[in-house]
Amino acid sequence: MKRTPVIAANWKMNITPSESEGFVKAFIPLVKDNREVEIVLCPSSPTIERVTRSLKDAQNIKTGGQNIYFEVNGAFTGETSASMLKDLGCSYVILGHSERREIFHETNDMVNKKVKKALQTGLSCIVCVGEKLSERQNGRTESVVKDHVTNSLANFSKDDMKNIVIAYEPVWAIGTGVNATPEQAEEVHVFIRGLLKDMFDEETAEATRIQYGGSVKPENIKELMAQKNIDGALVGGASLKPDSFAKIVNYQ
Ligand code: 13P
Repeated sequence: MKRTPVIAANWKMNITPSESEGFVKAFIPLVKDNREVEIVLCPSSPTIERVTRSLKDAQNIKTGGQNIYFEVNGAFTGETSASMLKDLGCSYVILGHSERREIFHETNDMVNKKVKKALQTGLSCIVCVGEKLSERQNGRTESVVKDHVTNSLANFSKDDMKNIVIAYEPVWAIGTGVNATPEQAEEVHVFIRGLLKDMFDEETAEATRIQYGGSVKPENIKELMAQKNIDGALVGGASLKPDSFAKIVNYQ
């Protein structure tokens, strides 16, 4: 099955609203002819509005948030709701990133509730899964990935899966400069697709896009994307400069 690649920039806690204007201005012309890839920029919450505004004439670039809280509204100081992101013009939200799981103690159950709220609000989700170095070294990659996928995506329907992208991000490859080899990534992507087949059906498993994330750069994107089951990338450090992120998006 042909799956449209989705390549997303996760700016994390980088790029202020003012800095984002220069990024977007430089980035738009570099990718204006790209219709093969779904391109998503995920700024920090305060930067989103400036980015969506600067992107108003760029039909081929979407925006996304990096997190939401699962309640609709109320006394949750410091949190952002799904409808706030939607109101700012976001199409996507990244959920369950390893930094959220690790630093902010997010559990699969919380990720599951967030995905549910995001879908109800009309946002598509990028749901992150992946093992730590010690877990890989102890032969636990598959059990950790299975735990993340089955529990973060518990109780969703095949229809829900049309708006969910999975990002396989081995924690040991994030921000380290050491990416998983294309073969290592492909092996886990095949495993994830197998899980989706068990949880849903073959058609859903084949249609779901699975991104790779972890030290993706202009130098390694082509060989990663050459793998049959890698359908895009979630890019941190190399997405902070317009020319480097454009090279990744224009890998073909
Ligand atoms: P790096 O591309 O900086 O390794 O970060 C990956 C990541 O965490 C994207 O979500």
